[in-house]
Amino acid sequence: MCKILLVLSSPRGEASHSTRVARELVGSLTANDPGADVMVRDLAAEPLPHLDGGLLAALGTEAAARTPQQAEAVAQSDGLVAELFAADTIVIASAMINFAPTSTLKTWFDHLLRAGVTFRYDESGPRGLVKGKKAYLVVAQGGVYSQGPAKPFDFQVPYLRHVLGFMGITDVEVIAIEGIAFGPEMAEKAVQAALERVSSMPALVAA
Ligand SMILES: Cc1cc2nc3c(=O)[nH]c(=O)nc-3n(C[C@H](O)[C@H](O)[C@H](O)COP(=O)(O)O)c2cc1C
Repeated sequence: MCKILLVLSSPRGEASHSTRVARELVGSLTANDPGADVMVRDLAAEPLPHLDGGLLAALGTEAAARTPQQAEAVAQSDGLVAELFAADTIVIASAMINFAPTSTLKTWFDHLLRAGVTFRYDESGPRGLVKGKKAYLVVAQGGVYSQGPAKPFDFQVPYLRHVLGFMGITDVEVIAIEGIAFGPEMAEKAVQAALERVSSMPALVAA
C-alpha cells in the first residue's frame, strides 16, 4: 500500500491551481493502488501555530519536566514529524505569495526541522535523517521564474528544495505552473500543461 502525504497550502481555496494539480497528481500516483493511504495536511484550512517562545521552551524541556500545556504543544509537532516519516511519497502544493511559499507552509517546515529528529550535525556537517522518500513540488506562480529576469527572485522553489534536502529528502520533482498572471490564455495553457504532465506520470507500485 502506498503512503502519500498531500500537503496543501494555497489560501485561494478551490481556485488554487497548485491544489488542483497536486490532487490530480495523487490520483495518477495511486491509480494502481485503490487502497493507498493518502494523508491530507491542509495548512490553509488548519494553520499551525507559529514557533513562539512557549513552543521553543517546550521543545527545549525534557519530556518528563514539561507542563501539560508544553506536552500538548510538543505532541502537535511530534505528530507532524510522525506524518512525514510515515509517508513514502510527499506531494506539496505551494502557491507563490510575495516571492515565497505561504507562511503556513513555512510554519509546517518550522515544526518539522528538528535537530536530532529530522536532521543532525556531525563532523562532516548537516545530515538529513528522513530517508528513502520522494517529494513532488507542485508550485503555482503569477510570473515566470524558471528562466528569465525574475529567476533570482524565486524564494519558493530553492527554499523548498533546500529544507527538504536538509532533512534528507533529495529526490524532488518540481511541477511548475507559471505565468498565471499573464492573462487567462497563458494561465489555462500552464495549468493544462501541468495536468497533462501529471496524468502521464507512472503510478506508484504498492509496497
Ligand atoms: C497575496 C498574493 C501575493 C502574490 N505574490 C506573488 C508574487 O510575489 N509573485 C508571483 O509570481 N505571483 C504572486 N502571486 C500570484 C500567485 O502566485 C498565483 O495566483 C498562483 O496561482 C497562486 O497559487 P494557487 O493558484 O495555487 O493559489 C500572488 C498572489 C497573491 C494572492
